[in-house]
Amino acid sequence: MDREINRVTVFGGTGFVGRRVARYLRESGATVRIVSRHRGLGEDDGIEQIAADAHDQRSAEAAVAGADGVVNAIGLYVERGTDTFHSVHVETAAKIARAARQAGIRRFVHVSGIGANTASSSPYIRSRGEGEAAVQTAFPGAVIVRPAVMFAPDDAFLTTILRLLRSQASQLQLPWPGPDGQPNESSQLARQAHAESRARHRQLLPAVTQPSKNLYLGCISPH
Ligand SMILES: NC(=O)c1ccc[n+]([C@@H]2O[C@H](COP(=O)([O-])OP(=O)(O)OC[C@H]3O[C@@H](n4cnc5c(N)ncnc54)[C@H](OP(=O)(O)O)[C@@H]3O)[C@@H](O)[C@H]2O)c1
Repeated sequence: MDREINRVTVFGGTGFVGRRVARYLRESGATVRIVSRHRGLGEDDGIEQIAADAHDQRSAEAAVAGADGVVNAIGLYVERGTDTFHSVHVETAAKIARAARQAGIRRFVHVSGIGANTASSSPYIRSRGEGEAAVQTAFPGAVIVRPAVMFAPDDAFLTTILRLLRSQASQLQLPWPGPDGQPNESSQLARQAHAESRARHRQLLPAVTQPSKNLYLGCISPH
């Protein structure tokens, strides 16, 4: 870690990615503040928790005060009410980046997603592309990270698929991404997905069921 970055605010620090980022930063010697609407389970030594909604500009400003670095690991997988892909991935990301810029933060890291593309017909992927652009405008020089799907024993993706595979392995058909990263529902691809999901199940199960081994693997790759 950059020795000049000693105090870091992690938005979404109770999430799957954010809590790992917070733990890594803490272990690297930084003072860490995590921000989410709900407090995480338990208290970690040296990690301050703030319950705040980052949609609110003032809350975002208060959360970055005194920090040297900011990580935005807030994301949304299912739209609910006013929490839309655009509001979270574009508007709120821009608010956080603006607050960081105004506070004189030295390093800003924005966690986006693989395949982010402003021209995509998928609202999710489009919002990731627009979010990156909005962040770069609000905080020139921001570092954008585009992870593929990440797997670990506490993930919300693979463990769900594995549960489904265990319960209905012969019927399950997963939508599979096309060349632009969006699910393609043609029957040919659905058949391919079925075959691949069963093959991946056999391949991934040992890695996922052994908690000591994290597995990182690109699942959506438009290139
Ligand atoms: N996990 C993956 O495999 C993966 C792959 C590629 C990209 N990513 C990206 O990585 C980022 C983090 O993903 P994740 O899987 O860690 O998501 P997650 O587990 O759902 O965590 C999201 C975090 O954001 C917080 N949050 C949501 N809305 C908020 C708001 N308005 N104000 C403050 N905090 C808010 C949540 O806490 P509260 O709900 O309590 O507020 C939680 O701490 C996302 O941008 C995601 O798209 C993840």
